[in-house]
Order: sequence, then structure tokens, then C-alpha cells
Amino acid sequence: MAKGLDVGTMNIISGKQDAEETVFVQQRNSFVEIEYSDMAEQMLSRSDVLHIRKDDAVYVVGDDALSFANIFKQETRRPMRRGILSSDEKSAIPMMKLIIEQVAGEPTRPGERIHYSVPADPIDSDVSVLYHQKTLESFLGDAGYDPEPINEGMAVIYSELADNNFTGLGISFGAGMTNVCLAYYAVPVMTFSIARGGDWIDEQAARATGKPIDKVTSIKEDDFELDFRTDVGGVEGALAIYYENLLDYVIENITREVDEEDIEEGLDVPVVVTGGTSSPRGFEALFADHLEDANIPFSISDVRSAREPLYSVARGALVAARSEEAEEGSGSPNRSEAVERSVSDGESEGDADAEEEAASAEN
Ligand SMILES: Nc1ncnc2c1ncn2[C@@H]1O[C@H](COP(=O)(O)OP(=O)(O)OP(=O)(O)O)[C@@H](O)[C@H]1O
Ligand SMILES: [Mg+2]
Repeated sequence: MAKGLDVGTMNIISGKQDAEETVFVQQRNSFVEIEYSDMAEQMLSRSDVLHIRKDDAVYVVGDDALSFANIFKQETRRPMRRGILSSDEKSAIPMMKLIIEQVAGEPTRPGERIHYSVPADPIDSDVSVLYHQKTLESFLGDAGYDPEPINEGMAVIYSELADNNFTGLGISFGAGMTNVCLAYYAVPVMTFSIARGGDWIDEQAARATGKPIDKVTSIKEDDFELDFRTDVGGVEGALAIYYENLLDYVIENITREVDEEDIEEGLDVPVVVTGGTSSPRGFEALFADHLEDANIPFSISDVRSAREPLYSVARGALVAARSEEAEEGSGSPNRSEAVERSVSDGESEGDADAEEEAASAEN
């Protein structure tokens, strides 16, 4: 068995294969601090709310943080900002550790493989992802896993472009970041991130309209559509303006980052857009429209969107973990063959089960 883990600024999601099905476990990457009281402690310990106590405070972590924040009139806090561990949040590390342990669960055997997503270094900010990556590695190692980082954009290629020989441009529009990867037969030829995503859209639209950020986020997530009409005024109008601005910024950076020497002549590839920020209706068409005017040094056959945008990265990390496991098992040097085998579920699952049984029989 192997697992995939998407560690995002807003959502932490694990994926594992259960017979024919991929099973996901998800938590919001946020928490709220409430004052300790006997009543709070009793209430929490009788529930399955994820929480920890520290001195005079209780921290409610994950999906339940928002409802506790409303009841106790507190703000939720977030351990990550712009794609990596937040340096402004002193409680980031214990909160992330707790969420990751809950989402990943116990390893099914000691040293179970887990591929966890890590963004590429952002090109528009001077932060490095190394500290973030190493911290996650240590959480997962302590939990008994054999952790391996996978680039977030590459995970999109694994989950969404299996039918195109893992060749194309994958873009994950998240909360804190946008991650881009161009791959050719499962080999990344360009990966980068930009430190803007859904949070940036919300902050800008809130600032422009004078509305609280939370209000803007819920309008955006509820029924907002990108329909090529920018109604001036109102939150929706501001959201549309910043959505378009983000798309243009991403396209401009793709054009700048592509190294023409790495591009085969006549390259014609699909683009897949995914991530929570790609959810509004019209997003894919708007992106295709803006791409048409761009000066990208390869041609684009079509723009697709993922069927389940929130799960693409966890699914891709799982594909990578299973393929590596299959490769170790068979000694096959051909990575894309191994990936295909693990994508076409079923048989490799049987192999994994047999391996697992063998492993537990040894103990
Ligand atoms: N239906 C929706 N419409 C618009 N935006 C949405 C919708 N659902 C979620 N989002 C936005 O998607 C973002 C979260 O997406 P996702 O889970 O892909 O990000 P993440 O992986 O946690 O972040 P990152 O990869 O940047 O670290 C948030 O900005 C959220 O507001
Ligand atoms: Mg993400």
C-alpha cells in the first residue's frame, strides 16, 4: 500500500486506494484558539472534534475550527500562507502536525510509502520551500512513513494527463499559490510557482470593495461564475477583475519561464487547470480565451478542467507513490509503464495486497 498527501494552504487531503476506489480524507488547514474551561474540555473530549490543549488554551483544529470560531467569537488562524508554513504563525508547527497525522492516518505497515506535495520555489517572492518540505518530511517520518516529496504541478500531470502519456501543461490554482508544470512523457521540463491564488483574489477584492475577506470568500465559493461580463461595482465584479488579472499574470509568467531550447519543435500539448480556485463555472473558457492572445512558444491543443479539482493533487501524489512502489516490486526501470500500471487499477492493487500480507507475515 502507498498513500498520496496534498498539503495545501487551505486543505490537507490524503488519498489511498481501496479496491477499485480512491478514498480521500480531508481537513481544513486552519485552527482556532479558545480559552480552556472544564466545560469546553468535557464537550470536546466527548466529541470527535480534533483538538489539543496547551496551558490555558484549547485549540480546535481542521474543519471544526470555523464553527467554533463563530460560537466563541474568535478568528480562525492558518498554519500556512502562500503555499508554505507561515513564519508569522507561532503555533503553525504543532497544528499542522496534528492535521497531517489525522488526515494521513497510521501507516498500514512501518515504512509505508507516502508522496506529499510541495510547491515549486515561487518566482515572484524570495522564499524557499526547503524548510517547509523538511518539516513535513519529519512529521511523516515520525508517524512511521517513508516520505517522498512530489512537486504539486507534477502531481497534476500524474492525475489528469495519464491518457496523454503524461505530456502537457498542468496548473494547480490553489489558495496560496498557483503551481505550473510542463511535462514531456512524465519528465518535467518546466516547473514553477507564483505566490498568488484564491487568497490573493479574496484579499484584493475585499480591499477594493471594503467588505471583510471572509464575506468575499463565501460569495466566491457559493455561486460566483466567470461569464465574461464584468459587472462593475459589487463583490462579484471585483472578483471577476482579480480572477482575470491572476490568469494574465500566470500566462505572462509561463511565457517568460519556458526555455525554448527545451521545447521540441511542433510541440502541441493539452493544458489542464485544477485546484479549488479553478472551480467557478466559466474558468476553463476564460483561461482558454486569455491563452489565445498569449505568445507562448508551443501550441496548445485544448484546455481541460479536472473532474474533481480539490482532489487532483492528492490523487496524483498517490499515483506517483503507487508507481514507485510497483517499480520497486518489479525492478522495472520504465517509469511511465509503471505509472500506467498503477493508474489502471485492479491488478496492481492485488500485488500491493500480496506484498502487504507478506510483510505482515514476517512480523
Ligand atoms: N467553489 C469554489 N469557487 C471558487 N473558489 C473556490 C471554490 N471552492 C474552493 N475555492 C477556493 O479554492 C482555494 C482552495 O483550493 P485548494 O484546496 O486547491 O488550495 P490549497 O491546495 O489548499 O492551496 P495551495 O495549493 O495554494 O497551497 C481557496 O482559495 C478557496 O476559496
Ligand atoms: Mg494545492
